Amino acid sequence: MCGISGYTGGRSVYNIIINCLESLEYRGYDSAGIAFTAGNRLSVIKCKGRIADLKKKASTRKINAQAGIAHTRWATHGKPSSLNAHPHFDSSGRIAVVHNGIIENYIDIKDKLLEKGYTFKSDTDTEVLAVLIGHYYEKMAIEKAILKAAEDITGSYAIGVILSDSPEKIIAMRHDSPLVIGIGVHENFMASDVSAILKYTNKVIYLQDKELAVISPERIEFLNSKPHDKHLPVKINYTIEQAQKTGFKHFMLKEIYEQPKVVSNILAGHITSSDKIHFDISGLDIKNIKEITIVACGTAYHSGLVAKYIIEEFARIPVNVDVGSEFRYRNPIIKDDTLFIAISQSGETADTIAAVREIKKHKVPILAVCNVLGSTLTRESSATVYTNAGPEISVASTKAFTAQITVMYLLGLFFAQEKGIFSKTRLTSELNIFKKIPNQQKEIFKQSRKINAIAKKYLNFGAFLFLGRNINYPIALEGALKLKEISYIPAEGYASGEMKHGPIALIDEYRAVVCIANDSFVFDKVLSNIQEILARKGKIIVIATEGNRRMTEFTKETVFISKTNNVYAPLLTTVVLQMFAYYVAVLKGFDVDKPRNLAKSVTVE
Ligand code: F6R
Repeated sequence: MCGISGYTGGRSVYNIIINCLESLEYRGYDSAGIAFTAGNRLSVIKCKGRIADLKKKASTRKINAQAGIAHTRWATHGKPSSLNAHPHFDSSGRIAVVHNGIIENYIDIKDKLLEKGYTFKSDTDTEVLAVLIGHYYEKMAIEKAILKAAEDITGSYAIGVILSDSPEKIIAMRHDSPLVIGIGVHENFMASDVSAILKYTNKVIYLQDKELAVISPERIEFLNSKPHDKHLPVKINYTIEQAQKTGFKHFMLKEIYEQPKVVSNILAGHITSSDKIHFDISGLDIKNIKEITIVACGTAYHSGLVAKYIIEEFARIPVNVDVGSEFRYRNPIIKDDTLFIAISQSGETADTIAAVREIKKHKVPILAVCNVLGSTLTRESSATVYTNAGPEISVASTKAFTAQITVMYLLGLFFAQEKGIFSKTRLTSELNIFKKIPNQQKEIFKQSRKINAIAKKYLNFGAFLFLGRNINYPIALEGALKLKEISYIPAEGYASGEMKHGPIALIDEYRAVVCIANDSFVFDKVLSNIQEILARKGKIIVIATEGNRRMTEFTKETVFISKTNNVYAPLLTTVVLQMFAYYVAVLKGFDVDKPRNLAKSVTVE
């Protein structure tokens, strides 16, 4: 949902803000722009298209700047165009603003400014904000003008402002959209997320809600802070390599291949040498939880659905799962013996955070399962379990999903342990099966050629159906989501048992059906579904357990996973479906890491 970068210091402003912006392109990529100060001159270069187009446009200019801000856009108000691209000027041309988020009441503000005689060049809410700041700047210092404008607006924002009157300064402010400040020596940085500035510094300060920072090369001043806001720099412990492709063709492929390591790291982090599971969530009264409600969006919602099967199976606690955007507006029943869990890779998803705020009104505990240190979700929750998957750059989520479900398995086992449901022997035997998963995921990578060949064969099918049963039903949903979001092929996920209640009408020789048919207590039922599809000339691709020869009687298109207990199978079946979606999109020639219309971190409702 738009990426922002900024730099003030003695090095090449242009190179640094563009370099940082390139790491943020996953957040939006329909237009891009920069603004920079030199002496008392403020200049803007912007265009429709990607950062590469911006670089082409800027290449004819000699840019010698003191400070600069940059923006890559995911359009909310106004179509992608050069006029709507950020930065936007105020009416005097002395102030330039970049913005991530949505100003919800921008029409009212625009009307008032129009009445006062101001004019606008773009369709954006951001230009309205820039003009409003400029309006107040006529009468007060820029910091005060920004704070005053912030009082007038509703919605979410992370903004960067530079001005010709103070060419070394960048002013940053945020509310419900992420913004981080990077600390350098005689230089400072600003960005939407840490991975963008990691090349230059690993010392960061997370800007707090409604806080304003005045960033100069030698100092950072904070205004509008709350008494408990801390400004001690945090040291980031992941490396720049983790945020780079390191030889892989795409981030998505790299992130798929990182999954065995991610799973092993999470296991190592929560299992003691005597096979006890520990979580640092002492504030939550686990033994007395009667029910769990999980809120999340998209792929994270699918991990919530997997968690329902896990927790109900292991800990016998009833689990409800809801999408953030539905939960909030449903007048939900919030009971104080319910544990609420919010799952989010970014920790900035507006719909999930809105649900969390609704829950907080009832003063019940919320556990965040999140990947991003210091994100809004983690700050607003009672406790956090980090998924520690490292930065996920590809817009389509892969390793973050596996990390989320790995954490949910461990939480399920932990609840069973704490409630005394599992004996020590049972827990050890579960963990022995679980610990084999990373190597079993690596076995799937050995079948990449085969998965690629299947992708090639099915590339031009017009629609896909993904079927799974029991704990693999949410994996069917996730497999369909992966395929549609990066290859734009209509794909639906269904519980296999539901096929006869409607979707079977779709089956003919042009329909491809991906069936998750691993060995399990529901295998025979899934097999019946497969036969029903074949009887109607449907084409099938199957995921089966190694050694299951019956499958090869039905189709050559079988990808095998290693033997494991059905409950852990999602950690394997999901990898096959991620690879399948990846190869289809690559073969179709699409931009896998930056699918159209999407953006990582959906910070608007
Ligand atoms: C799909 C995908 C999205 C996100 C969703 C929630 O590949 O990435 O569906 O899962 O937008 O995002 P987070 O997990 O950041 O809350």
